[in-house]
Amino acid sequence: MACLVTGGAGYIGCHIVQRLVDEGVRTVVLDDLTKGHRELVPRGADFVEGSTADPDGVAETLKRFHVESVIHMAAHCEVGESVRDPEKYFTNNVSHGLTLLEAMVRCGVKEIIFSSTAAVYGEPEEVPIPEHHPLRPTNPYGWSKLVFERALETYRAAGFMRTVALRYFNAAGADPKGRFGEDHEPETHLIPNVLNAVLGKIPRLEIYGTDYATADGTAVRDYIHVSDLAEAHVLAYRALRAGKDSAVYNLGNGKGFSIREIVQATEALLRKKVPFVDRPRRPGDPAVLVASSERIRRELGWRPRYSDLDTLIGSAWKWASKTVSV
Ligand SMILES: NC(=O)c1ccc[n+]([C@@H]2O[C@H](COP(=O)([O-])OP(=O)(O)OC[C@H]3O[C@@H](n4cnc5c(N)ncnc54)[C@H](O)[C@@H]3O)[C@@H](O)[C@H]2O)c1
Repeated sequence: MACLVTGGAGYIGCHIVQRLVDEGVRTVVLDDLTKGHRELVPRGADFVEGSTADPDGVAETLKRFHVESVIHMAAHCEVGESVRDPEKYFTNNVSHGLTLLEAMVRCGVKEIIFSSTAAVYGEPEEVPIPEHHPLRPTNPYGWSKLVFERALETYRAAGFMRTVALRYFNAAGADPKGRFGEDHEPETHLIPNVLNAVLGKIPRLEIYGTDYATADGTAVRDYIHVSDLAEAHVLAYRALRAGKDSAVYNLGNGKGFSIREIVQATEALLRKKVPFVDRPRRPGDPAVLVASSERIRRELGWRPRYSDLDTLIGSAWKWASKTVSV
């Protein structure tokens, strides 16, 4: 009996795999290493280099390891790239995802937890955003995740599987013990780029939009620590194992931080300057995205424990500065 984690060699995946291994769950990672790193796969997990695009390869892995649950994280996830190349996103995030579902049906695997995103909501009508908020993505990445959520609903309705979709807001931070962290090329996420600017890996942080209707004019986002995300996956995994019905949950800490707040908190914590430059807004970037995570708190007892600013930035710094003399 095992849990398959697709995309488990990626940033969020490796944290989840470590938590599952710590829980004593036999865990198998399937990753094609297009973005992931073999060395991030925690010791104690099995690793299969392969793609969700390969129906026989996936079915063989499901059978070989007697997989009973899947955590499906494998995807492309850069919003800007999805606007330039939507086909790449629909092919990997939808079509290859359907190949995975078909292999699961073929092999009788009936539980799946899916990495969805706040991008399914688009421009918010109310904040904090509840799960029943209208779903109107503003980019192909968000659409690809919403289409896959819809596919999951139809597989659930047909009785093939029980499903949990977790809509993450902005994943951030790194393993508090410094074993894993974010390593994307190119890096598009705020906190690693703030730290890259401190480390001189980029000349300066680019701040997109300084005239939003927010307290300091910069965009406000809900940053959720990867260790808190990992905990939510373990709770969802246990709930599905115990026979729980399908569900959709937001995952955020419920507090928003502006870009300038992140910059100031970094400068205060590290006692270093963050070089930055102001740029115009990017199209489709809402002013404020903050989650209501009341549903998962209530139903699964989830509580974020690592998502205060100092832990988010401090743990990411521990990772980012590891191989650089500062
Ligand atoms: N990082 C965030 O803030 C965030 C927010 C919301 C949702 N998500 C979702 O969480 C998941 C993980 O995100 P991440 O930030 O860790 O990204 P990541 O790029 O670090 O990880 C994705 C992993 O999937 C692998 N992969 C991609 N396509 C594959 C395929 N067809 N078959 C096998 N492996 C494949 C990549 O090699 C990579 O290791 C994604 O589904 C993403 O959409 C992330």
